[in-house]
Amino acid sequence: MSSNQDHHPPRLARRDLLVAAASIVPAVVAGGALAQSAGTGAAPLAVDRHADGKAALVTGSSRGIGAAIARRLARDGFRVTVNYVRSQARAEEVVREIETGGGQAIAVQADVSDADAVRRLFDVGEAAFGGVDVVVANAGVMRLAPFGEMADGDFQHMIGVNMQGSFNTLREAARRVRDGGRIVTLSSSITRLRTATYGPYAATKAAQDIYASVLAKELAGRMISVNAVAPGVVDTPLFTDGKTPQQIEGFVQRTPHRRLGEPEDIANVVSALCGPDGDWINGEVVYANGGIV
Ligand SMILES: NC(=O)c1ccc[n+]([C@@H]2O[C@H](COP(=O)([O-])OP(=O)(O)OC[C@H]3O[C@@H](n4cnc5c(N)ncnc54)[C@H](OP(=O)(O)O)[C@@H]3O)[C@@H](O)[C@H]2O)c1
Repeated sequence: MSSNQDHHPPRLARRDLLVAAASIVPAVVAGGALAQSAGTGAAPLAVDRHADGKAALVTGSSRGIGAAIARRLARDGFRVTVNYVRSQARAEEVVREIETGGGQAIAVQADVSDADAVRRLFDVGEAAFGGVDVVVANAGVMRLAPFGEMADGDFQHMIGVNMQGSFNTLREAARRVRDGGRIVTLSSSITRLRTATYGPYAATKAAQDIYASVLAKELAGRMISVNAVAPGVVDTPLFTDGKTPQQIEGFVQRTPHRRLGEPEDIANVVSALCGPDGDWINGEVVYANGGIV
C-alpha cells in the first residue's frame, strides 16, 4: 500500500538549472520592483519584516507545508528560494503570490536526493539573493505499508528523499548559511506515535532529530541555531492520500484540538524559530501537533 502517489522525480540536468538561473533574473527584478512600488497597488503582506535583506531557501516548497513556510518567511521579509522537483507551475504560483505581496522569490527545480543538484540549488539562491541566512529542509515523501508488504522501491525512495536529501541540504546549509542564521529540518510526531505501517517513514524522520542536534553542536560559535520541527497530522496530500475519511477522522479524534493541522500552523512555528526571538532554541525537536502526542 502506498499513501502518496508522487512519481520518482527526474534528475536535474545542468542545462535545466541554467535555464532556471536565466529565467529567475526577471522574477527577482520584478520582485524588487514590486517591493519598491509598495503603496501603488501591491497588497502589503508583511506583519513584521524583521528579516528584510536576508535570504531563505526552503526545499519542497511548491505545495503543502513547504509552500506555507515560503509564504510566511516572505511575509517576515526574507527573500525566498522556492524549490520543487516536478510541480513547476505550483512553485511559480508560490513565487507569484510572494511577489504580489511585495516580496522577492525565485523558483528552482532540484531533486534533493541528488547532491550535485542541491549544490546548484544553493548556487542559484545565493547568486540571486547574495547569500543565505535560513535553510528549511522540508522536502519529504511518505510510503506506508506493514513491514511484510513494504516494497524495496518505496523504502529506497524514502531513504533517498528524506534521509539522503535532507542530509544533502543540511550539508550545504552547514557550509553556506551566514553566521547568525537558522537551519530547520522537518521531522514528524510519528517518531513518538509509532503507528503501524509507518515504520520506515518514521525512521527517516527520527534521523532529522539526530541531524539537528548534532549539527547544532558542530556549528558552535557561529550563532546558528539548528532545530527539527515535528508536525502531527497536517492536511496535505502526504497525509491524506490513500486514507479513508474514517481513518482521517480517527487521527482528528486523537488530537486534543480536534482538527487536522494546517500547513500554516507549522509555518508559524518555523517563522518563530527563524525570527529574532528564536535564537535560544538550539538543537531541539519542536513538536507542533495540537497535542496528539
Ligand atoms: N503532512 C503531514 O501530516 C506531515 C506530518 C509530519 C511531517 N511532515 C513532513 O513535512 C514535510 C512536508 O510535507 P507535506 O505534507 O507538505 O508534503 P507534500 O504536500 O507532499 O509536499 C511535498 C513537497 O516536497 C517536494 N519534494 C518531494 N520530493 C522531492 C525531491 N526529491 N526533491 C525536492 N523536492 C521534493 C514536493 O515537490 P513537488 O511538488 O515538485 O513534487 C513538495 O513541494 C515532509 O518532510 C514531511 O515528512 C508532514
